[in-house]
Amino acid sequence: MNLLEVGGLKVWERASGHVIVRDVSFSLKQGECLAIVGESGSGKSLTCRTIMRLQSSRLAHSGRLLFKGMDLNALSARQFRKLRGRHICMIMQNGMRAFDPSRAIGVHLRETIMQHYDWSHSEFIDNITSAMASVMLKEPLDMMRKYPYQLSGGTLQRVMIALAIALKPDLIIADEPTTALDTITQYEVIEQFMKLRERIGCSMIFVSHDLGVVRKIGDHVLVMKDGEVVEQGSVSSVYDAPRHAYTKYLLTSRAMLRNHFRQVMGVL
Ligand SMILES: Nc1ncnc2c1ncn2[C@@H]1O[C@H](COP(=O)(O)OP(=O)(O)O)[C@@H](O)[C@H]1O
Ligand SMILES: [Mg+2]
Repeated sequence: MNLLEVGGLKVWERASGHVIVRDVSFSLKQGECLAIVGESGSGKSLTCRTIMRLQSSRLAHSGRLLFKGMDLNALSARQFRKLRGRHICMIMQNGMRAFDPSRAIGVHLRETIMQHYDWSHSEFIDNITSAMASVMLKEPLDMMRKYPYQLSGGTLQRVMIALAIALKPDLIIADEPTTALDTITQYEVIEQFMKLRERIGCSMIFVSHDLGVVRKIGDHVLVMKDGEVVEQGSVSSVYDAPRHAYTKYLLTSRAMLRNHFRQVMGVL
């Protein structure tokens, strides 16, 4: 059975009727990683937010959204809140915005976890410190006393990954989780994302405009343009034999950029 099935998803602006995302369909199996690529404004984030029911109330949607065979559209707000975090976790682009600036990291982690698990304080500390250690966060107890502004973007994204490890969701939706980071930190965080799947066996939707990252992390890829899916398939088939002109364009621009970089660096 598919973990997630999205069929004919359409998102539009209620007031104007303007359609932003149309006919997006894909399915995701247990343990699989689906990468979504496409230029800025192509509807990647909106697709993810609609699945999580986090889109603006100014927008409406239609289409099939099945999670473990359950119709997500039929869930009440309360039922959806229970699902979010515990079964489907979203990791956003900017770690800083995911945290409440006025509260220590540990308070945020504890509250989020306690919404879903009935752990004692020592169980919480044991689970979260081992999750933090597994993503190479040093001195977890010390870190939990810190406020978001005292930590770097890369550290905050790792805290988010640690939280996901502790929550053990079935599906993680990561929306450009490394875009705000410098190149070296990006690389380290991507490594943690790859290990995350091995650790908790979750499925993942990984949104990225970095085709190199997608090749590394994705099993399947969905290429979006102007609110539509223009191509999808296994990462190797799409990369080796792209069918749509836009995918070809994305791949050649990447190859040209890489060659240019090599020339500039004197590698060629
Ligand atoms: N709440 C909203 N109301 C109206 N339009 C929106 C809203 N959110 C996003 N959009 C529009 O939807 C399009 C897709 O946005 P988005 O999904 O964020 O793109 P991507 O993540 O691919 O860069 C953009 O043109 C954006 O302006
Ligand atoms: Mg986006």
